Amino acid sequence: MLKVSGLEASYGESQVLFGVTLEVGAQEIVALLGRNGMGKSTTVAAIMGILPPQRGEIVFDGRPIQRLPPYRIAKAGLGLVPEGRQVFPNLTVRENLVATAANRAGRSAPWTVAKVLELFPLLAPRLDRLAGVLSGGEQQMLAIGRALMTNPRLLILDEATEGLAPLIRAEIWRCLERLKRTGHAVLVIDKNIRTLIRIADRHYILERGRIVWSGTSAELEAQPELHVRYLGV
Ligand SMILES: Nc1ncnc2c1ncn2[C@@H]1O[C@H](COP(=O)(O)OP(=O)(O)O)[C@@H](O)[C@H]1O
Ligand SMILES: [Mg+2]
Repeated sequence: MLKVSGLEASYGESQVLFGVTLEVGAQEIVALLGRNGMGKSTTVAAIMGILPPQRGEIVFDGRPIQRLPPYRIAKAGLGLVPEGRQVFPNLTVRENLVATAANRAGRSAPWTVAKVLELFPLLAPRLDRLAGVLSGGEQQMLAIGRALMTNPRLLILDEATEGLAPLIRAEIWRCLERLKRTGHAVLVIDKNIRTLIRIADRHYILERGRIVWSGTSAELEAQPELHVRYLGV
């Protein structure tokens, strides 16, 4: 579904990605791992067209997207839950959900506010509150719900469980497993390697802007030296 090859990107003079290559198949949960500052969020920014890549190819559903502007990439079916959530604080929960909603892929059963509330029941009593007053966990659920309302076929989550209580984290993981069962693909960036080994199908490790290892959950579990060397755990 998503094929990234030889991706290079820079902030001004400083090159951060040096040839990132990765794939996400339909109905796959794929993890992008690596310590802070290794280029995970930059990879996501390049895929979404926020930081247009200098070299490399990004193919989504057989179509090159690396030169498209962000809104067209989103329209092609990629949804981002950005690092730090970035919900609209001065809009209500309901307004956040509908502000960017679109049934881009022309789905027969698109996401609706009701469906998002079914996925995250905690949001239901807060529909008319301003997003800015929600707890961190509630804002994260809202950020995921907002991305789902654009009806993406590939959802990208950048540090979605960062700083959240264990119970809320579990909710987010449960949501990903459910998305996978309903035919979505997910690219997930997270530090919870134990959980990722349990729920992701495959993993890539990014080190200073290069993919240095990729493999299945079983392979990652069998190589604890990788965790120490590249992930600092
Ligand atoms: N907006 C920016 N301008 C300049 N440098 C940046 C910017 N964002 C990130 N960087 C640098 O790019 C590198 C990769 O950052 P990032 O992709 O955010 O890493 P990760 O998400 O893996 O923690 C880091 O050295 C970081 O300091
Ligand atoms: Mg990051």
